[in-house]
Amino acid sequence: MNLYGVYGASGFGREIMPLLRAQVSNDPDAICVFVDDDGSEDTVNSQKCMSFEQFVGYPAENRAVSLAIGDGMVRSKLAEKCEMAGVGFINVRAQNSMVLDESLVGSGLILCGFSTITSNASIGRHFHGNIYSYVAHDCVIGDFVTFAPGVMCNGNVHIEDHAYIGTGAVLRQGKPGKPLTIGAYAIVGMGAVVTRNVAPGTTVVGNPAKPMIKD
Ligand SMILES: CC(C)(COP(=O)(O)OP(=O)(O)OC[C@H]1O[C@@H](n2cnc3c(N)ncnc32)[C@H](O)[C@@H]1OP(=O)(O)O)[C@@H](O)C(=O)NCCC(=O)NCCS
Repeated sequence: MNLYGVYGASGFGREIMPLLRAQVSNDPDAICVFVDDDGSEDTVNSQKCMSFEQFVGYPAENRAVSLAIGDGMVRSKLAEKCEMAGVGFINVRAQNSMVLDESLVGSGLILCGFSTITSNASIGRHFHGNIYSYVAHDCVIGDFVTFAPGVMCNGNVHIEDHAYIGTGAVLRQGKPGKPLTIGAYAIVGMGAVVTRNVAPGTTVVGNPAKPMIKD
């Protein structure tokens, strides 16, 4: 048996399960389950739900998970936990998502419906591209980067590890050798139009995007 888990049974996990199911539908030995540390539900959307310990102990020849948790920090902790337990990762891609010529993607990828990675992009580990988001040519994306729905990341943009890009944000294209850069752990607010580099750890909002100042 090949056991596949969607780690996280919250809203995003429930969006990923049907994509995973469709992806492995030709494998008669595949079983898809939710893995959730909350452990209060036996089933979610009629699909079996188990704890991580149950998932690891379940009799299976192969087992792998998709980390369907939007928070990149939580995702990286879970990735470490899975690696220590010998659990692998499965890339999950909606059937209508696209990855075009010479783009490289890391393990643990999630590409939701209508999302696209165009050509010559490099994508790190555990990237999430939510519905209708895109990464254009020559972009370099780090590990545990999250795109909310509808993110438009134009060509020659570099995004460092753990950055979070909110719904509908637009990232202006960089130039070859002079990319637009979003620093590690930066947050780009929903609807922001990013025209300049964003420093690591900064939250930017608005059009044009500026650091968010809280009282
Ligand atoms: C930018 C963001 C991270 C800030 O979150 P926060 O620190 O909790 O900020 P708050 O909600 O306390 O808002 C602080 C102020 O910024 C404003 N603000 C928040 N997000 C904003 C945005 N994206 N653009 C413009 N202004 C924004 C709020 O209206 C508020 O203004 P006020 O003080 O005048 O009332 C968040 O609002 C955001 O955009 N998150 C992305 C959401 C998303 O894409 N979700 C996808 C789920 S799949």
